[in-house]
Amino acid sequence: MASNLKKLSCLPFFFLIFFFFVTISSAELCNPNDKKVLLKIKKAFNNPYILTSWDPQTDCCHWYCVKCNRTTHRIISLTIFADDRLTGQIPPEVGDLPFLQTLMLHKLPNLTGPIQPTIAKLRNLVFLDLSWNGLSGEIPDSLSTLKNLFILTLSFNKLTGEIPSSLSELPNLGGLRLDRNQLTGQIPESFGYFSGEQAPDLILSHNQLSGKIPSSLSRLNSTSIDLSRNKLEGDASMFFGANKMIQILDLSRNLLEFNLSEVVFPQSLTSLDLNHNKVYGGLPPVMTELKLQYLNVSYNRLCGPIPVGGDMQSFDLYSYFHNKCLCGAPLGDCK
Ligand SMILES: *[C@@H]1O[C@H](CO)[C@@H](O)[C@H](O)[C@H]1NC(C)=O
Ligand SMILES: *[C@@H]1O[C@H](CO)[C@@H](O)[C@H](O)[C@H]1NC(C)=O
Ligand SMILES: *[C@@H]1O[C@H](CO)[C@@H](O)[C@H](O)[C@H]1NC(C)=O
Ligand SMILES: *[C@@H]1O[C@H](CO)[C@@H](O)[C@H](O)[C@H]1NC(C)=O
Ligand SMILES: *[C@@H]1O[C@H](CO)[C@@H](O)[C@H](O)[C@H]1NC(C)=O
Repeated sequence: MASNLKKLSCLPFFFLIFFFFVTISSAELCNPNDKKVLLKIKKAFNNPYILTSWDPQTDCCHWYCVKCNRTTHRIISLTIFADDRLTGQIPPEVGDLPFLQTLMLHKLPNLTGPIQPTIAKLRNLVFLDLSWNGLSGEIPDSLSTLKNLFILTLSFNKLTGEIPSSLSELPNLGGLRLDRNQLTGQIPESFGYFSGEQAPDLILSHNQLSGKIPSSLSRLNSTSIDLSRNKLEGDASMFFGANKMIQILDLSRNLLEFNLSEVVFPQSLTSLDLNHNKVYGGLPPVMTELKLQYLNVSYNRLCGPIPVGGDMQSFDLYSYFHNKCLCGAPLGDCK
């Protein structure tokens, strides 16, 4: 009698367990197409440890490195980073996650091969970060079809070829980072005509860009521009001007040659690096009115007195040394 009672009292518990499992297995929210695509991507990446949770028996909305929309349960984010055991190339299937808004494959040194052109099918993409990988080949022209793209970051890869001029057609671009690759050719003339209301931050440093900077870039109204460590030559005065919004301008280590006395410094400027160029003329007295946090004009062909006042003497001689005949504090007295 007592044992019968015990059995009976266990019954609801077993039911509970039973229903629990039924609910779990029947309540798979993940879209079956998305799941199929993700499993193909996992295979293309040689089933890395970081994707262990991508188990076909479980709901893909619960997998690591992905996010589903809470209403539609479609995959909206794929973010894999910092793993050197992930090897292989970005497979074409990545273009078959039609609701993807964020694609970040970052610090995967053994992710090699080209930037998969099917990424251009991801029309909802807002954030594309493929930086710090081993990617090679050219930047696909077709990325310009991603009209919702806000951030495009392809830094620290082995990308070659020219910068596609069509990238200026991205109407919502807020940041373009192509630094630390092996890009060649000129900066596209079209970069003076970004179609969006606000020009993107432009980071093209540590490449092999050459030739003159197109004069159309005088129309570029970005808050941050870094063209350092390229082989750019000629005039760069178009980045200055009273009505610009520029805050951070780094043109260091190029072959740029223009008269600094003739530029108008925008009030917004807080950081200016021109070191290792062929900039001539002098430092205009109005520079004392700027709120500069960083200044480096060393290794140029500047001449004349360093204006006294403002922040100009808060920088040490290494901000000014190796010029033709700059003088005054923090350098030696003018003769
Ligand atoms: C999820 O999808 C719904 C319906 O399409 C949409 O209204 C919502 O903005 C989406 N949420 C996110 C975070 O994308
Ligand atoms: C990944 O790349 C590193 C060098 O970055 C190399 O030492 C390592 O063997 C690679 N791992 C695999 C699994 O290929
Ligand atoms: C840059 O943007 C600011 C703020 O929107 C605006 O006042 C200024 O006229 C613009 N300058 C140029 C050169 O477009
Ligand atoms: C630079 O411009 C200033 C102001 O127009 C001018 O006086 C000076 O001669 C120019 N310097 C050189 C080296 O051309
Ligand atoms: C300015 O650039 C020169 C040359 O690269 C460098 O030696 C110096 O340390 C820099 N100064 C500052 C303040 O960073």
